[in-house]
Amino acid sequence: MQADILLGLQWGDEGKGKVVDFLAPQYQVVARFQGGPNAGHTLEFDGAKYVLHQIPSGIFHQESMNVIGNGVVLDVIVFRKEIHALNRNIEDIRKNLLISKKTQLIIPTHRVLDAASEASKGKDKIGSTLKGIGPAYMDKIGRNGLRVGDILQADFKEKYNKLLQKHLNLLKQYNYTDYDLPALEKDFFDAIEFIKTFQLADTEYFVNEALASGKTLLAEGAQGSLLDIDFGSYPFVTSSNTSAAGASTGLGLAPNKIGKVMGIFKAYCTRVGSGPFPTEQDNDLGEQIRKEGREFGATTGRPRRCGWLDLPALRYAIMISGVTELFMMKADVLSILDEVKVCTHYQLSDGTITDKMPYCLISEPVTPIYQTFKGWKTDLTSKRNVQDLPQTFLEYIEFVERTLGVPITLVSVGPDRTQTILRK
Ligand code: GDP
Ligand code: IMO
Ligand code: MG
Repeated sequence: MQADILLGLQWGDEGKGKVVDFLAPQYQVVARFQGGPNAGHTLEFDGAKYVLHQIPSGIFHQESMNVIGNGVVLDVIVFRKEIHALNRNIEDIRKNLLISKKTQLIIPTHRVLDAASEASKGKDKIGSTLKGIGPAYMDKIGRNGLRVGDILQADFKEKYNKLLQKHLNLLKQYNYTDYDLPALEKDFFDAIEFIKTFQLADTEYFVNEALASGKTLLAEGAQGSLLDIDFGSYPFVTSSNTSAAGASTGLGLAPNKIGKVMGIFKAYCTRVGSGPFPTEQDNDLGEQIRKEGREFGATTGRPRRCGWLDLPALRYAIMISGVTELFMMKADVLSILDEVKVCTHYQLSDGTITDKMPYCLISEPVTPIYQTFKGWKTDLTSKRNVQDLPQTFLEYIEFVERTLGVPITLVSVGPDRTQTILRK
């Protein structure tokens, strides 16, 4: 078998949690391959709502094995809290969850360093979720990190103290003192004991053996392609590869083991944190979309910036990840509008018109060129079949699909698992 990947194609929060939970019955393994507690994936079913940060979104399906891959950065304190919030028998969860021994640990001072780094940047701050993501990946790449497998070794405390010392020196340079180390450490070491009771494994063997024995696997992305460390709006990005390649390195899946690449996008755009956003509507319209779409961060509660769908950016994300099918989310939110716009091209400062992403949207700001569509003005949330969708909305879908050259096979019309329409 080949592994399928599900990725966000915008700036995150496209609805990945909802869709992974919807698709999970088709997959025997669901695996997270990058990111960490900066992610907030919302699932709604049977009248209940859950937000997952570290745990893969297949966890509510008893038949799926869930894997936290080596490409992830794991905050054991967040993990423990999240396990308890699932409100399920922990023994059952233990059976269905594997954590890679090669997953990097977020230690408390990674979070403190994140805060110190952001504070030092002033108005140029990234708008990080302050979960310690950047510092943890810096230590990984700098070959200073601690991995989950290390907690089983006798010299773990020694390794921890070495890394801690490095962090304390850095914090001194930042002149940052706003933290209570003994309290943070107590929580951390308690949570370390907690994760020792889970299955810690060489998950690269597990996923490859699962595929070899004919099992199906879904790799669940976190964040979105425009936050990718290489291809996103650098430096306003996260610190991992959020595009399809991240699934190879983050799980140990060779490129020839990848099958479908499902790309998910909202019928409009949102962004949380700083950085360029060409189609942003920083006005009443953006406020209307935010209110109707309940666009507030699932991890930090921050209001999300809202704007029109950006096709040059989507086309770029599709190219980088080789997306084979598209899922359109949250079109129900736009039902309140008389007209809906889509950015088809950018105009550069010298007047050139292009449908490509410039090198840097900060030094080369663009003016979006829009095509306007009649709004569908119909409540979509109760629709369950393509035949029931209004013609105006179908025209919108077909235009986007034609322009991007990739089929839109799933349309989501509400947050609940059941509010999902398969198109082809
Ligand atoms: P993720 O990070 O990609 O998993 O997305 P988030 O969970 O951060 O944000 C998506 C939000 O939109 C969540 O509150 C979902 O419950 C909600 N949602 C998902 N799909 C739809 C949809 O089709 N319509 C509406 N109205 N809400 C949706
Ligand atoms: P999910 O998986 C939306 C953004 C932050 C910030 C930048 C860097 O729920 O889609 P970081 O904490 O990674 O150093 O922050 O990336 N960001 C997200 N935005 N959804 C996410 O995850 C995000 N994870 C990080 O707001 O701008
Ligand atoms: Mg989210």
